[in-house]
Amino acid sequence: MAELAGISRDGAVAVITIDNPPVNALSVPLLPALNHSIGSLEESPEVKAIVLIGAGRTFIAGADIRGFQDMIEAGGSGDPGLNPLFERIENCPKPVIAAIHGSALGGGLELAMACHYRVAVAGAQVGQPEVKLGLLPGAGGTQRLPRLAGIPEALAMCTTGAPRSASDALSLGILDQIIDGDLRAGAVTFARDRIADGPRRTCAIRDKLVSIDAAVFNAARRDAAKRDRNQIAPLLVVESIENATRLPFNEALAREAELFRQALFSPQAKALIRGFFGEREVARIPFAKDAPVLPVRTAAVVGAGTMGGGIAMALANAGIPVLLREADQAALDRGLNTIRRNYGSAVSKGRLTREVADQRIALITPVLSYDRFREADLIIEAVFENAAVKKAVFEELDRAARADAILATNTSTLDIDEIASATSRPASVIGMHFFSPAHIMRMLEVVRGRATSDTTLMTVMATGKRLGKIAVLAGNCAGFIANRVYFAGQREAERVVELGATPQAVDAALFDFGLAMGPLATDDLIGLDVCRDIRSELSRRGTLATEMMIEDRLLEAGRRGQKSGAGWYRYDENRRANTDPEVDRIIDDHRRSLGINPREFTPDEIVERFIYPMVNEGARLLEEGHALRAVDIDMVFIHGFGFPAYRGGPMFYADSMGLPHVRERLLAFGHQPAQLLDRLAGEKRAFNSVGTYQN
Ligand code: 3HC
Ligand code: NAI
Repeated sequence: MAELAGISRDGAVAVITIDNPPVNALSVPLLPALNHSIGSLEESPEVKAIVLIGAGRTFIAGADIRGFQDMIEAGGSGDPGLNPLFERIENCPKPVIAAIHGSALGGGLELAMACHYRVAVAGAQVGQPEVKLGLLPGAGGTQRLPRLAGIPEALAMCTTGAPRSASDALSLGILDQIIDGDLRAGAVTFARDRIADGPRRTCAIRDKLVSIDAAVFNAARRDAAKRDRNQIAPLLVVESIENATRLPFNEALAREAELFRQALFSPQAKALIRGFFGEREVARIPFAKDAPVLPVRTAAVVGAGTMGGGIAMALANAGIPVLLREADQAALDRGLNTIRRNYGSAVSKGRLTREVADQRIALITPVLSYDRFREADLIIEAVFENAAVKKAVFEELDRAARADAILATNTSTLDIDEIASATSRPASVIGMHFFSPAHIMRMLEVVRGRATSDTTLMTVMATGKRLGKIAVLAGNCAGFIANRVYFAGQREAERVVELGATPQAVDAALFDFGLAMGPLATDDLIGLDVCRDIRSELSRRGTLATEMMIEDRLLEAGRRGQKSGAGWYRYDENRRANTDPEVDRIIDDHRRSLGINPREFTPDEIVERFIYPMVNEGARLLEEGHALRAVDIDMVFIHGFGFPAYRGGPMFYADSMGLPHVRERLLAFGHQPAQLLDRLAGEKRAFNSVGTYQN
């Protein structure tokens, strides 16, 4: 027990060091250990003050999320078991000081707020991120934080989950002091100076709470409903913080615990908690886990268009110097101007200081030749989506790059093996499919060709993490994971329009379901010409039927989507979508050519028709081994296509609806269920229970 919460002494000050790697989560074994240490110090007459500090890289990253997952799966009380311990700390007759480095998040901040004082190093952060897991602070956060930082700030922190820096936390009253130099020594000195002052209980500070206008809570509810459409946790947060103004502390705390349980056992928390672990699980590639990872000190990008420019920014943002090559000076100037404009807008929005923006721009070196490409450890090609053009570039790269350099392509559809065949080093060739805008979107599909070595793969996976991306391994099949699965759903969304729904009804149903944007509006954003090219590559490689679609007719009418001002919708100068009678006429003609008598669709059927074919295609990817796990597919859709995280991704959503139901609906829509789906439905199992390397 002693090691989890070991005690050391510095004169009259005792220091409890919480040592529960990797992030000192408040796990079941830690709580009694901490309780025991506090109890023994309460009784020790020589100890006059107590410092609580974390060992390793951080203070406390919160309650144990794995424990919550187990409670959801196996049942349990839904009680994190923290309140009695925090009450004990708060009632301790000796001043207790939390000494924070790294992060004090969730239960970690709640513990710190139950202490009588809080000090931190300048680089620390504090926050209540529970809402991102579909939860609310469940151990006093909604009661103590408003008392320390005020209601508006508590609402902001707890409804968004955004952390605060140490300096902000100091000015908000969450921290009492920033410690320069050694944290332990500084905290001990701070504690010694507080011995005469004695304990100071946060929950007793009530005066800040009385006169708050109820309109603040209504505004917070409105904001949350808009920002976090369909989500329950942010609303529960507001309710619980409002309770701080109308209930005595202990009653409000008991109500917080009830609301916490309500959130914890909701499907949304289940999906979001699974997503938290999913984001980390996708990095684990069992068959390559021991492969050495090469250092990436310098990178190069070929093509400074939409994607190349964004990729160069993503590299520069991670501090990696990058050579950016274009075919001619005019294209290079255009690309650099866009990069400068993007950084400029980040500065004007206050996201970046001018100084940092300039440092990043300085990391990008524009070039017109491959002369300096020998400096690059990783080269990413982002030229036009054309196999011949890309192969010509790879032939040049093969000559220009060092033997140990990795050559990556940003192709969204082309065959990695074919591109690799243009080089003498197919083991070093790999796909890095960034999503647009590449410096913002977190998804990165890493596509492994037949010859790609494990070292190439793991180096690129590690680089993805460095860039702040969620890198997911995909097999080298047509469309990889993202486009192959998306276009299966997109095809069906169009079919619903063919059969009678309006484009607006389709997009509205899926927007209301929680997608960032309906699929037809998404196609307008991608560009209907780009969609057609992807679909024809999928058809060429046999994973999508070839047929005349409404989008082909829209293209014939010169409607290429947002970029041409018209696609499924007509766009005004602010890019707002409006309905267009010409589209109705095109749809009517198309229906007539197919002899279709239009009928109505409910929003529920539209959702099923879009999602289940995607699930079916996802099942095929798993069957073929082109995706490692269902969660990999889900992460691609959450982080690449704006699929609602609180629904867990298409595969998780299908699991939650029950695979026998999904199978039945697919048959009703005229789709042949994938073998894996058939089998799992028959066995009453879920996608979440299989992985290609373990099924
Ligand atoms: N519980 C259980 N495991 C946790 C955890 C937690 N609270 N926080 C992190 N971990 C695990 C991760 O799963 C990961 O495990 P792995 O190595 O096996 O994949 C490991 O710790 C390291 O985490 P990261 O890879 O995320 O490490 P980073 O250094 O990149 O980030 C961090 C550190 C900022 C602390 C980040 O882990 C984080 O944001 N953690 C979650 C914080 C959080 O949401 N806290 C609230 C929990 S809910 C709660 O407290 C309820 C309370 O109100 C009652
Ligand atoms: P783009 O047309 O904006 O940019 C391509 C750039 O490559 C042009 O600036 C062109 O001058 C340059 N180029 C062509 N040949 C070159 C050469 N030999 N050397 C140096 N530069 C050369 O195209 P975009 O949209 O950036 O696409 C690039 C790649 O990214 C394509 O493979 C595309 O499929 C893929 N992709 C595109 C996405 C998007 O949303 N635009 C999303 C994901 C992938």
